[in-house]
Amino acid sequence: MSQPNGTAPSLWLEGHRAPVPDEIDAVGLPVEGTLPPELTGRYFRNGPNPLPGTPSAHWFTGPGMVHGVRLRDGRAEWYRNRWVRTTEFTDGARFVRPDGTFDHAAVPANTHVVPHAGRILALVETGLPYELTPELDTVGPCDFGGLLKGGMTAHPKEDPVTGELLFFGYGLVPPYLTYHRLSAGGRLVESREVEVPGPTMMHDFAVTANHVVWLDLPVVFDMALARRGGGMPFRWDDAYGARLGVMPRAGGPVRWFDVDPCYVFHVGNAYEDEAGRVVVDGVRYRPEDFIAFWPSIGGESDPSAATVANAPVRAAATGSSRLHRWTLDPASGAAKEEPLDDRPVEFPTHDDARTGHAHRYLYTAAADAIVKHDLRSGSSAALELGPDLVPGEAVFVAAEGARTEDEGWLLSIVTDRAGQGSELLVLDAADLSRTASVRLPRRVPAGFHGSWIPDPVS
Ligand SMILES: [Fe+2]
Repeated sequence: MSQPNGTAPSLWLEGHRAPVPDEIDAVGLPVEGTLPPELTGRYFRNGPNPLPGTPSAHWFTGPGMVHGVRLRDGRAEWYRNRWVRTTEFTDGARFVRPDGTFDHAAVPANTHVVPHAGRILALVETGLPYELTPELDTVGPCDFGGLLKGGMTAHPKEDPVTGELLFFGYGLVPPYLTYHRLSAGGRLVESREVEVPGPTMMHDFAVTANHVVWLDLPVVFDMALARRGGGMPFRWDDAYGARLGVMPRAGGPVRWFDVDPCYVFHVGNAYEDEAGRVVVDGVRYRPEDFIAFWPSIGGESDPSAATVANAPVRAAATGSSRLHRWTLDPASGAAKEEPLDDRPVEFPTHDDARTGHAHRYLYTAAADAIVKHDLRSGSSAALELGPDLVPGEAVFVAAEGARTEDEGWLLSIVTDRAGQGSELLVLDAADLSRTASVRLPRRVPAGFHGSWIPDPVS
């Protein structure tokens, strides 16, 4: 297949990212090693999967397909995969209606799948969540009783103390940013507009015990790209600047901190330190890295790239995104930045029980390894998979009664780079040793994010 302009291959439709043609079910999956019996639940993972023969202008725009693996009492009971039946998928509904308004149900729902308050939600940042059953059937779009009027980020944060789900939505027209809060019981109890200079692609945010942190970064919405249609209407814009905003969760103004220009798809975690500073760990793309990466998945080449000599070549030579720490001091107004690791990585995860609180460990996926970062010692360890295997996001599942932060497992779907097959790898998070491997009945395309959903589901 080729891009719409017919000049370059669509890397997101080939090899380990190539979509699968259909939905299947399989039971009694072969297991190597020993699955811990307490891992009883479901691992669901979402990602774009264009229908066979349909064009796909951008890796981020294909219709969502959720892959599920059911584990129970040491057995791998089933695998199944299902497209999320959004109105875009079933009826061809368009996000932009003929009158120029937005249909927030007409979205691909392809980025994440999370449980909250008895619901399982498939998410994409431009639109409404879609509720799924524990068997991966689509219930329908969820607007929380008509209260959610716009999009919901694919990266909501569940507060481990209150059980609330904090999230946001960004708009292409005002309001550009809205903060939302779901109660532990799943009711939308707060929606608050946040002032930002313009519409940007805000993929993630951070929370601490007392604050929310906004990533107002220079990948901006471009109406001309939207009119052209098909892909992602965002591009790098040097003129926008880059800032992080610290907003009290209880209400109050946003304190903005200018930072070095960059883009961040994913935050690892954030917290307030003893001095009251806000510490944010995320995976950072330098401008040249983003400008090189974005067209490789179907994004618009930035006009300014012509002035950045050999940007794609440079980024390819130096890797792409890396773990980075911002320390924001509300007392002084200072923002300190420091790299945390040299290795190019993405998809940072942590023990969800520490969301918003100090963490020692983050886990990431490198091109051919699963990496554990010890931020106390500054060291990292990796399970190297070799050049033929690509790991997906490694989701941490804490052991029952865990006494240390890394007592538990990492779950990651690993896919053959040539597109031959996949396995669900279960690692001991303490030392990255292999606890078990579930052989999946088909290749699972490299996708985005997933969740472990323990029994009982609700
Ligand atoms: Fe993401």
